[in-house]
Parts: sequence; C-alpha cells; structure tokens
Amino acid sequence: MNINFKKNDDCKLIIKFAFKNDAISPILALQGFDGSASQTATETIDGKLNIVVGVGEKDKLTLEAFEKAVATGVKAASSLGQASVQILVSSIDADAKYSAHAGLAALMASYKFDTYKTAPKTKTELSEIFVDGNGEADFAALQSLYDGIAFGRDLMNEPPNVLNTAEFAKRLVELKELGVEVTVLGEKEMEALGMGSFLGVGQGSTSESRVVVMNYKGGGDEAPLALVGKGLCFDSGGISIKPSGGMEEMKGDMGGAAAVSGAMKAIAGRKAKANVVGLVGLAENMPDGNAQRPGDIVKSMSGKTIEVLNTDAEGRLVLCDVLTYAQQTFKPKYVIDLATLTGAIIISLGHDYAGLFSNSDDLSGKITAAGDNCGEKVWRLPLGASYDKLLDSKIADVKNVNRSGPGSPAGSITAAQFLQRFIEEGTQWAHIDIAGTAWKNGNEDPREPSWATGYGVRLLDTLVKESFEK
Ligand code: BES
Ligand code: MN
Ligand code: ZN
Repeated sequence: MNINFKKNDDCKLIIKFAFKNDAISPILALQGFDGSASQTATETIDGKLNIVVGVGEKDKLTLEAFEKAVATGVKAASSLGQASVQILVSSIDADAKYSAHAGLAALMASYKFDTYKTAPKTKTELSEIFVDGNGEADFAALQSLYDGIAFGRDLMNEPPNVLNTAEFAKRLVELKELGVEVTVLGEKEMEALGMGSFLGVGQGSTSESRVVVMNYKGGGDEAPLALVGKGLCFDSGGISIKPSGGMEEMKGDMGGAAAVSGAMKAIAGRKAKANVVGLVGLAENMPDGNAQRPGDIVKSMSGKTIEVLNTDAEGRLVLCDVLTYAQQTFKPKYVIDLATLTGAIIISLGHDYAGLFSNSDDLSGKITAAGDNCGEKVWRLPLGASYDKLLDSKIADVKNVNRSGPGSPAGSITAAQFLQRFIEEGTQWAHIDIAGTAWKNGNEDPREPSWATGYGVRLLDTLVKESFEK
C-alpha cells in the first residue's frame, strides 16, 4: 500500500469525516447518519463516491478515535474495486498530526495476510491512498511503526509448520539491514550457558531451541533497555497436553517474541536515539519419547533448580533463562518481558488490557502512560510474598506451577512471581501478559485484522519514545 500526502482530484472515491451535529445533506440523513462515532454513509457528489465516517462530538475528538474512523473508511473503501482513494482530513479541519495518523490508520486497516491464498484475484485491489493535510514529515516514523506492526502480525499468522524456530530466527537476521546486531544461540551454546530450564521445554520437539539477540545501539554508552519475548512457535502443552479444541491458536504462543521483534524493527527503522536490546526465546513444546515429564527437575542458568509439575507452564521455563542471560550479559537497569503466558489473564482482563506486573512503580508508571497514550492498554496487578510462597517446592528451589490442574488460584500472578524469582537485586523489571491481547476473535477495532493484532509493538515503541530517548 502506498500512502501519498497530497490531494489527487482524479480519485473517484473519497473518504471524509463529519462531527455529530454538523449540518449534513438530506441523503446522509436518509441513511440514518448523524455523525456519531464509527457510523458510515455514502453520497455521490460530482460523479465521485464519498464515504462519510462519523467522528462523534467535536470537542471530544481524540487521535485514537480519528484513527478508528479512518480505518473504518478504508475498510469500506477497499471492498469497492477501486485502486485509489482520497482521504480528506481537511473535511474536519484537523492538523498535520491527524493527517500523518490517517496514513498510519490506513496502513493498519489494509493489512492482509494472504500468502497462502492461491486463487487469482478477481477484483482490483486498493493500492494507492492519498491523504491531504501535510502529514508527510510526521508520517516517516509512523511508517516504521507500521512496518514493525506488520512484521509482528506476519510472524503470528504464519502456520507453525512454516514458522518453526529456525525460520523465525532467519527472519530476525534480516533486521541487520536496519543496523541491528543479530546473534543466534543454538542448543550447544545454550547448554554451555547452563540453560537447562529452557532446553527442557524444547527437548520433545525436532525444532532446535534458539535464543535470538537483537542489539540496537542508537544512544551512546548507556546500558540498554532489555526487551524479552516468549517465542513458543507452537505450544501443544507437552505431556500435560492441551485439549484439541482451539489448539491451532497455539501457533500464536510466540506473541511476545513477535511484539519484541516488531518493536525492534520499528525502533531501528526510525533511528531512535536509545539503546535497546531485544531477546527472544524460541522453542516448540511437543510430546514425544524424549519430552519433559511432569515431575522432572531442571537446573536453570541462574543455578536455581525447578520442579516441573506441569509441562504446559512452559513459557516461564523459557523466560527465566532468557531473563538471566539478559541481565548477566547486558546489565540493564530496566527489563521488560512480554509473553502469552497464561489463560488466566484472559479470565481477569479479557481482550482489552494486557496484564502488567512489576517490582518498580517507576517503570510501571512509564509503561501504563505509554499504553494510555498509544491505545495498547495495560492494567497492573499485584505481586507479593503470599503469592510467591505458593511456588515453594518440597524437593527443589521452586516449582513451575502452584497447583497443577484447573482452578488454581491467581494463575497470572503466580506465573509473574515465578519470573520474579529470576530478577536480580537492583533490576527494575516488568512482565506484560499479552495472552488476551496478542490475538482476538471477532475483533472490533477496525485498525486490527480479525486475528493477530500486533499488540505490544506500538506500546514498546511509544515507551521508548516517551521515556528512553535522549
Ligand atoms: N500459552 C499458554 C497460555 C495461553 C492460553 C495463551 C490461552 C493464550 C491463550 C501457556 O503456556 C499455558 O499453557 N499456560 C497454562 C498455565 C497452567 C498450566 C498453570 C494455562 O494458562 O492454562
Ligand atoms: Mn503452555
Ligand atoms: Zn505457552
């Protein structure tokens, strides 16, 4: 999709906007249109089809509401068999920032994943979008943001037979083009580092486990912000196998790694003035003759031993070793991990907020503010000694679940408590459980496709921009 910041009078298709209580034509009124947010109606003026999208009350307009209106318009326009469309930001007299964000919303709404559709296209597809209002200068960074979001969505959407750990790593190596140093650790290196917890998760799979380190240096000598992502290319549950209904969605269990990778692409793409290192732990959790058993005890890179009571609580077993590696290697002041870690977070927060856990009010505040400002929201949940105690094991240092089996209390919190046992004194750490936000069925946000959202890319990019850049 090409975004052009100019007015093109040859476009036969126009998207424009109306506030509630604006004077509207009888033909719009006839369609029940009154300018309420996300309403649409059409009218023909001088032989051009105008799609009019409501943006609600004038004094309540936000950039987020406007982005959604643009996305609604673009979705409507893309089914009409036209190659180009004009978005008229001037119809509501908005500034250059709105023009730039119209470009971003148009890209987000026209994202498609059709790699595996073989039927020839019968309709002309929308390929050129014209936007008025001088958004070009502000748009450059937003194009990078979109490239990161699309990268993350693509990684999520790929089927697990294609996007195995090797293919995932290969796609990350391509970030070198943006000036990111990329290092891939294989199982031999991980063994030498003592990552027995991580390696146990992948031992039942024929896909080799990997750690990919993406180091972007845009900010001088300071210790980097470390971003860590859970990258289960498929999570069958292992020997504690999941029920078969809906198991295909577990191809998306690399949502944390996708978010971190997309954020690295966005941050490097816009040449952010910050040091950020992204680390993803890639593995596949499968049951076979060599698979990890419930009852096994593994030794993590930190030296702590872990009693594995449920092989389906594998994300934390991967993350603890990557967190240790990140802290020992990069000595970061701040570490943030993202993971599709628990089904329980969907029970708690649904699909609108990700769960935030942190040992730092400072870092937690920064992340919450970034979420509010960019629309990828987080909600902080508690940590504490009484929850931590639930993970004490009789025969090892820690167990990977409180109680194995359904109805175990505070499932998302105990998962976070497990991770916190691997955070070193002095490290400010946050864990974001994105199991409810990485993908959604029946999505209502017109900027997002029906499944993989790319959640986390925009949150991390915004966080870096607001709190970590010079
Ligand atoms: N990947 C899942 C969590 C998940 C569930 C993500 C649903 C997205 C949607 C994770 O590895 C898992 O299986 N967690 C278990 C933990 C339990 C065994 C303590 C869960 O949530 O049931
Ligand atoms: Mn699992
Ligand atoms: Zn998982």
